[in-house]
Amino acid sequence: MRVSVIGTGYVGSVTGACLSYLGHHVTCVDTDEDKIGKWRAGEAPIYEPYLEELIALASRRGGIEFTTELADAAQSSDVLFIAVGTPPLPNGAADLSYLEAAARTIGAAMDGSRFRVVANKSTVPVGSGNLVETLVREGIYDTRPGERNRIRFGIASNPEFLREGCAVSDSLYPDRIVVGASDQQTLDMMTELYRPLIEQSFFPPPLVPRPAGISKVPLVTTSLTSAEMVKYAANAFLAMKIGFANEMANICERVGAEATEVMLGIGLDSRIGARFLNAGVGWGGSCFGKDVQALLETAGEYGYSSKLLQASLEVNMAQRQMVIQKLQEKLYILKGRTIGLLGLSFKPDTDDLRDAPALHIADRLLQMGARVKAYDPVAMKACREIHPELKIRYCESPRAVAEDSDALVLVTEWNEFRNLPLGELAAVMANPVLVDGRNLFQPEAATEAGFDYTGVGRCPRPRMKNGDARRESEAAVVPSPSIRV
Ligand SMILES: NC(=O)c1ccc[n+]([C@@H]2O[C@H](COP(=O)([O-])OP(=O)(O)OC[C@H]3O[C@@H](n4cnc5c(N)ncnc54)[C@H](O)[C@@H]3O)[C@@H](O)[C@H]2O)c1
Repeated sequence: MRVSVIGTGYVGSVTGACLSYLGHHVTCVDTDEDKIGKWRAGEAPIYEPYLEELIALASRRGGIEFTTELADAAQSSDVLFIAVGTPPLPNGAADLSYLEAAARTIGAAMDGSRFRVVANKSTVPVGSGNLVETLVREGIYDTRPGERNRIRFGIASNPEFLREGCAVSDSLYPDRIVVGASDQQTLDMMTELYRPLIEQSFFPPPLVPRPAGISKVPLVTTSLTSAEMVKYAANAFLAMKIGFANEMANICERVGAEATEVMLGIGLDSRIGARFLNAGVGWGGSCFGKDVQALLETAGEYGYSSKLLQASLEVNMAQRQMVIQKLQEKLYILKGRTIGLLGLSFKPDTDDLRDAPALHIADRLLQMGARVKAYDPVAMKACREIHPELKIRYCESPRAVAEDSDALVLVTEWNEFRNLPLGELAAVMANPVLVDGRNLFQPEAATEAGFDYTGVGRCPRPRMKNGDARRESEAAVVPSPSIRV
């Protein structure tokens, strides 16, 4: 099929690359000329593992193009995806101005030569599918009023569930595909488009192999409204699940239980599931906060106040503040202290800093008169450019962050931090305090390395009464769950 993807950010670029890999001809459109220039030059303007390679492959096959001109792409496309940003407005509601502009431009570019599907991938408040339809119609009416009854199109809501950091794998091997539509022709076209994914009939790219056990991907077909609601409900649940793990960790810390053991114990219950139960400094990123807030706004418009959603947001904010409290407990005075942050991006394997806990923590520390140093494997350049107001001293290595610092805070669990030479870091610090905001390190190992260690909800078991060395905990046998937001 011929496909256009409007918006070449984290979602649009990956969608375009993967659909092209499956054999469709894709035109990626963005209003940002700089971004399009980079994509054309084979240089990804965002960091996402394997994306550049997949796009290079698609370009060599002639299956992907990048442009700032939507009109030509829209005319020659069977399916047009909208994947533009829907950032939060100051009141918490989603800013739909990019979506509205895209929908109108699509309408203005359409002619009667074929039936087209306009599929929305942006996360939009319930009811936006109807809005998109109206805007496309208005676009048609503005440019081709005489042809308006001849121009046929359908609207689909196709929410995106990819996770930054493993977005290519998530797109090629999704847990499910959700398509909301109000007519059969639209649904049939979307099913046809996704058939290679649904049947997993494509040959996996060598860099992104198919995970074991995937043979078919469920296609969930719904109404437009239900599909929109699926996306919000999924993000609200995941945000709440992490918030729950954090609440339990905070209680564990007070009663003397070890949160990683407790989460392992509950996560093995198949009704609960082990993922998204890692306690830490809370979730961040472009989606959870904005989507939970937008759902609250929508519920409010209908006169419903969701206490659970409100609590999810509050618990998460408190968790970021918890880092400051732990530093105060260890150092008392933060004014004039130097605090080193390990990790800036909101999670590993991405340079995305939107709503990253590290930014919030750095800002609080700076306001309190502390000096902040930081190291991140990929996000430092973006942080410097996007947040010049944060007077962070960027360092070339974790060791440089540790040197003469009064405390280290592990904020993002990048893989390269797992094997840090803790002894060497502790030795070069002014005060060897380590706040492990992701429970990445073994408390005993960190303590032996010379650190005054504190994690989140951590209270390792004492030695057994019979004097034997501490029995191997089950946690050492069963891999601990990992957070992938
Ligand atoms: N990032 C994620 O992990 C993720 C996951 C699932 C869903 N989503 C949702 O997908 C949507 C896109 O998210 P993102 O992270 O890719 O955003 P992004 O900000 O990275 O990218 C959006 C792109 O759209 C472009 N754009 C804006 N208006 C345009 C227009 N009229 N025509 C063409 N291009 C236009 C922007 O220049 C930008 O490049 C959002 O609604 C988001 O909530 C994001």
